[in-house]
Amino acid sequence: ETNQPLKGKNVLITAGPTQEAIDPVRFISNHSSGKQGYAIAKVAYEMGANVTLVSGPVQLDPIKGIQTISVKSALEMFEAVKSQLDDAHYIIMAAAVADYRPENIARQKIKKKEDVSNIHMVKNPDILAYAGLHKKENQVICGFAMETENLEENANKKRVEKNCDMLIANNLFTAGAGFKTDTNVVTLFKGEEKIHLDKMTKEQLGVKILETLMEIEEGKTC
Ligand code: C5P
Repeated sequence: ETNQPLKGKNVLITAGPTQEAIDPVRFISNHSSGKQGYAIAKVAYEMGANVTLVSGPVQLDPIKGIQTISVKSALEMFEAVKSQLDDAHYIIMAAAVADYRPENIARQKIKKKEDVSNIHMVKNPDILAYAGLHKKENQVICGFAMETENLEENANKKRVEKNCDMLIANNLFTAGAGFKTDTNVVTLFKGEEKIHLDKMTKEQLGVKILETLMEIEEGKTC
């Protein structure tokens, strides 16, 4: 069917921030709203896909018709993604995963008088890189890069290092792009190709991303 081009495809999407607990009342996180990942999930569903959304803590309504797995931390997101990875055809990692987490979570609230300048941080697993490393023949993987400088250089480096088919670069400082807005301004790095896109809604970008992943998939099979 022409309006259901993703029928029979399993699409796995991550969205939102992660929260890394310091103690029972505090966490480290970032400004991700989850809007871009949710927009991709919605249009993928409308295009006929079976959608699984692994979502960090966001203020967005769940999307009818798709399976949402809610997580808080990067470690939880990693487990959820691993449990869904085998069946996924399209993997789109739009979450802003915290790079680090406190090594230990204090069991009780840390009191003001104590010296907390020494919260020891350890690296979180890179979920996208894991998916790239274990990529199967029938999988197409898309990652995001949010930067404030040297965007294109960093984005292309990430695409190669994380073994993605496509990487989408957005600059936090561009008007109408990035966190919390309903629009985005991005550059797609698809193989050696670099495609600049004008400002569009996050849903329009979702369609563009999915169409481009379909093209990549076709290119692989012929
Ligand atoms: O390296 P960086 O964090 O900037 O890479 C961004 C991309 O990697 C995004 O697609 C993001 O979802 C993914 N990522 C991830 N797990 C991490 C860090 C980033 O999946 N721990």
